Order: sequence, then C-alpha cells, then structure tokens
Amino acid sequence: MPTQHDAARRIEPAEFAPRLVAWQRVHGRHDLPWQRSRDPYRVWVSEIMLQQTRVDTVLRYYEAFLQRFPDLRALAAAPLDEVLAQWSGLGYYRRARNLHACARQLVERHGGEFPRSREQLQALAGIGRSTAAAIAAFCFGGREAILDANVQRVLGRAFALPRPADAASLRAMWELAQSLLPPQDIEAYTQGLMDLGATLCAPTQPDCAGCPFTADCPRGGDARAAQAVTARAPRAARRTRSLVLLWARSEEAGATRVWLQRRDAHGIWPGLWCLPGHDDAAGALQQARELGEVVAQHEGAPLRHVLTHMDLLLQPLQVLVRAHGLAREDGEPGGWYALDEALRLGLPAPVRRLLRETSPD
Ligand code: ADE
Repeated sequence: MPTQHDAARRIEPAEFAPRLVAWQRVHGRHDLPWQRSRDPYRVWVSEIMLQQTRVDTVLRYYEAFLQRFPDLRALAAAPLDEVLAQWSGLGYYRRARNLHACARQLVERHGGEFPRSREQLQALAGIGRSTAAAIAAFCFGGREAILDANVQRVLGRAFALPRPADAASLRAMWELAQSLLPPQDIEAYTQGLMDLGATLCAPTQPDCAGCPFTADCPRGGDARAAQAVTARAPRAARRTRSLVLLWARSEEAGATRVWLQRRDAHGIWPGLWCLPGHDDAAGALQQARELGEVVAQHEGAPLRHVLTHMDLLLQPLQVLVRAHGLAREDGEPGGWYALDEALRLGLPAPVRRLLRETSPD
C-alpha cells in the first residue's frame, strides 16, 4: 500500500518526456541492429519479431531473416512455407503469416513502399496501433504514441493508474500516452519507453534505483513491497500436454524420407509442417500402418518443449515403414519428404531439432 508520503508523489506530465529522453540518451539501448537504420522494412521486421519476444532471442534470428529476405519485394515474392521455415524457432507463427501477407499488401496496394502515416500502417496485416506508431516514429518522425504491455506498466506506475481493464480505461491511457509525447526527439522518447519497460521497470523486481522517475514515481516507493507480495503469491501450476510424435521413415527409392503433415490453422504451431501428433502410441502406430508396412519401431527419448501457456512433453515414436506409395498427392495435408526437403519447410523448432540432430536408428 502506498504511504501518505507516496500518495503525495506526482510526476509532472510536462517533465515526463524530457527526463525520459535524457535518460535514454545515456542509459538506453543504442546498438541494436534495427537502430542502425531508418529503413521501414528493417524496422518493421524487428518490431514484429519483438512482439512477445525478448530482444536477446530476436537477435539470434534477425540478421538471418534479412539475409534470406533482404527487402520487401523478396519477402512478398517468397512462398509462405519459406517464410515460416525462416521463422522457425521464434514462435507465434501467426506473425510470420501476417508478415508475408503484409509484404504482399504493400506491393499490391502501395507500390512496394511503406506508407508514412500511423493510420495507413495500421490498416496492414499484423500491424496494430503500437507497432504502427513505432514504425511511424522511428522511420518517419511521426509523433505517435506506443502502448504495448510494457508501456502500460510504465505509465500505470508513473501516473498511479490501474491496469486498463476495459475499453474506456484503455482509451484513457492512450490519450495520456499521446498527451505525453514531446514536440521533438520522438525516436529517443519512444525508444526510452521501450527500454525502461524492458529493463528497469520490470513486472517483478523493478530496479527503481536507476529509474529517472524514482524520486516522484507514486509506485516507485512501494515497488519493493509489491515485489514481496508477488513473490509470496502461489504460482498457477503450468499445464503439461503429452504428445506422441509419429516419426515415420521410409528408406526406399534411394533416399531417407519422413512423413510430415501440415497442421491446421488453429492450436499450437498453426500451419507448420510437423511429425503427426497423437494422444498415445496406439494412435501413432495405427497411422504408421496406414502409411505402409511397419518394419521396425522404437521409442525415442522424450523432450520437453516450453510454450508460453504450457509445457509440451513430446514422445517421438520412430517407425521404419515400407511405404504404400511415395508420391505426394496435390492438396493433401501430408506426404513423404526427403530430409533436405523437410528441413526447408516451416517446422516447429523441436521437430526441426529432432530431424536435424538425431537420425533414427
Ligand atoms: N520492443 C519492441 N520494440 C522494440 C525496439 N525497437 N527496441 C527494443 N525493444 C523493443
């Protein structure tokens, strides 16, 4: 609970931006690869990758993605499967589908150029208001507010506002965010908000000592208490889902092939190619028998894969099959793929790892 002294603290709205900008210039992040450019293509790719994903993870994928798709036209011309393959491991694959759809929209509707206004950017696939504002601010100097979850937390703490629980309070927070924008230095200001939210003003254990607002942030003083409460609160148990992966392999016609199936657009790994998942080994074996004569079978080592909302316990069932037929039928969601072909498809990270690192015995 805030003390009376804390309740009297107040950040002067007019001081918010100048202090944040001054802090960002000295303590913020300046050497991220997407900050070296105002090219909206590079900035857009980074902003989409950074949605729900930490900077250090994005750093492992960003340059490789740009090497494979160096500009908007290359991305728009690529088959979706190649985009998904390049995205493999970053998760939230809807982002990759939207990225591809957006590239095509930009080519078809905007002659391959990014529009400069936040409103026009926001009309494109996968670009919400915050992402549109970040692109407009970083690339075109647009005075537009961002308000992702981190920024909601920063503003909520700094101005003693509860987390927006309905459309009206969210709208009010957007208005606050817009009213705080400085007349200039929009880039440093926007980056400062992102930096503060991602580093010092963390959800738990905020580092108030280094914060430019610590002296008069209404929540700064009790952040330690909030942290203690959070630490004591029991954590919700994580759900674990077990999935038997049928790893069917054929050794016919001079090549090793694996059977892959495209997942549907819902649930985990939407639209990715995958070893078929079953609730139990009996179901997996039954499918193997439908694919051909089962020559040998072996349970591989299980692996745990952590998703945001649950853990997956993946149990590979390796089956050597003399296939009924190796030809792939057009429009069918499953087929036999040579290993090198399979690795070029959009595969979930653990499946890619299985196919790449472990060869079936
Ligand atoms: N999170 C979202 N956008 C970001 C950016 N441009 N830099 C660092 N973190 C971010």
